[in-house]
Amino acid sequence: LDRFCFGLEPQTQGRFTSTASAVKAQTENTTAKAAKESKTFQAIQEERREQAERSVLISCPSKINENKFLDYLSKHGTINNHFFYNSYGAYAVVEFSSRESIASLKESTNIPAVEHEAAVPFKSRLLSLKWPGSQSSNHPMPKFKVQSPPSISEISQLLSEKNSIDEQLQCLTETLELTEENVSLRFLVCSLLRDIAGAYFPECIIRPFGSTVNSFGKLGCDVDMILDLDGIYATSQKKGSGLSLEYQVKRGASERAVTQSILSVIGKCVDQFGPGCVGVQNILQARCPLVRFSHQPSGFQCDLTANNRVAMKSSELLFLYGQLDPRVRHLVFSVRCWARVHSITSSIPGAWITNFSLTVMVVFFLQQRGPPILPTLDRLKELAGPSDKCVIEGNDCTIVSDLSKITLQQNTDTLEKLLQEFFEFYGNFPFNKASINIRKGKEQTKPETTALYIQNPFETTLNISKNVNATQLERFVALCRESAWLLQQKENLNQSSDSPWGFAALLVPSVSSGAGVKNRRKRKLEPASSRIKNLLDSLKIKGGETVAKKGSA
Ligand code: GTP
Ligand code: MG
Repeated sequence: LDRFCFGLEPQTQGRFTSTASAVKAQTENTTAKAAKESKTFQAIQEERREQAERSVLISCPSKINENKFLDYLSKHGTINNHFFYNSYGAYAVVEFSSRESIASLKESTNIPAVEHEAAVPFKSRLLSLKWPGSQSSNHPMPKFKVQSPPSISEISQLLSEKNSIDEQLQCLTETLELTEENVSLRFLVCSLLRDIAGAYFPECIIRPFGSTVNSFGKLGCDVDMILDLDGIYATSQKKGSGLSLEYQVKRGASERAVTQSILSVIGKCVDQFGPGCVGVQNILQARCPLVRFSHQPSGFQCDLTANNRVAMKSSELLFLYGQLDPRVRHLVFSVRCWARVHSITSSIPGAWITNFSLTVMVVFFLQQRGPPILPTLDRLKELAGPSDKCVIEGNDCTIVSDLSKITLQQNTDTLEKLLQEFFEFYGNFPFNKASINIRKGKEQTKPETTALYIQNPFETTLNISKNVNATQLERFVALCRESAWLLQQKENLNQSSDSPWGFAALLVPSVSSGAGVKNRRKRKLEPASSRIKNLLDSLKIKGGETVAKKGSA
């Protein structure tokens, strides 16, 4: 669940400084560092997964003596990294430098004696620290890392203190993006889940996908997971005598039926044996069957899917676009935040535009700039090497993995200009006739009469926004137009630290979202008729390119 609906209170902020001798200095954000070193998406994911396998999650007293705690754990081996956070109680994530430490730690950990109930004797890496006697406060308190985003009013205040819209959008990304610790915790939760699923399928891996890894994740977003069973198929075929063995297997009516049956069993296991996993729901009839649950110690809402390799490839594609130019992430974070505030997107499934669709729309818009800021998906395929070849269920999902092969054109547009033009572009887009196609980087004739048609990047006969109805699309277009207009108003461009300006002015409840305009500066003084006239005038944008004209082109 999005934290706009499901709030963990923001905790004490501050950078944590390690004190125990066994602890190395905190390192630079792994993803940023790996991207700088030009590691591929897969290499970054593997590194994080391996780190998670060497980590434990420990519930501990909030006034914990950090030095004592670390000294105690260091008996089992060197600690590479650790941090504390709060989620209905204090927790520590501790990453050891070797997996042997986990085995040693488990050796000295007990199954608790439970009064009036009985314990499921499952030895997981989610532990509780028992501290004898009461905790003294005569030691420095550990710093707790924040795992949830600030409120919209806090964001708005922060943005109003900036000096330009460009600075505002950069600040927004830095405020909302997943922190290094939050990403580690996400990978650790996947790894804890893997230990449960591994009881049935020892070769399985649970991998995060979606906004946890696509570089557009915001603090508080859900953890999308894939139960990856591909390792099971990878056996070495020894040639020689001509004899070979096969496993006898149960068969299901279809891939989908097998996926449903695997997920229903894993779902049951998570429900009955998974410590900290609550509210497990099997949603197996969905287009993409899934098990949804809350992981209480982390506060994450989790969606576990299986047989969903295309979604992982889509995450890689978005990650790649996000790495190519910093403006991509700033614009995506801004548009996602703007859409959420105005209820264009929602945490509840329905006829709304999804964050995934919005991100593809930003990519498409950036492919349309002159010169383009982002290359087409076809171009990314052309640049791919032999090892990048990837075909999933008959769909060619090949994209280049080496970012250094991609050359970009010189485009120096400011973020302010791009934001303004994004709203103008979609405020005038001929949605009635055209579809959005990032593979070609050009709008195409819509093959169906659905309100919004965004071609699925890899399964090219599908529309990723099929769920969107005409009303939701109209609300989106009306808000784009209104925001384009607001960005043209002088009073919104004048810096002011006591009322929202620039991007923050776009986060005030709007007419189009039906929430009224009483909080707006100055605008409230204008009669509605003149506001609408101004709005219409602003849409006759440069070159007289109006909706009708574009639609008839
Ligand atoms: P959040 O809203 O922050 O969770 O963004 P997200 O990108 O994680 O979106 P979501 O959790 O809804 O979906 C997870 C991933 O599933 C996306 O990143 C896509 O890769 C994929 N996905 C979501 N919706 C669709 C869809 O309609 N079609 C296809 N092909 N993939 C989708
Ligand atoms: Mg998600």
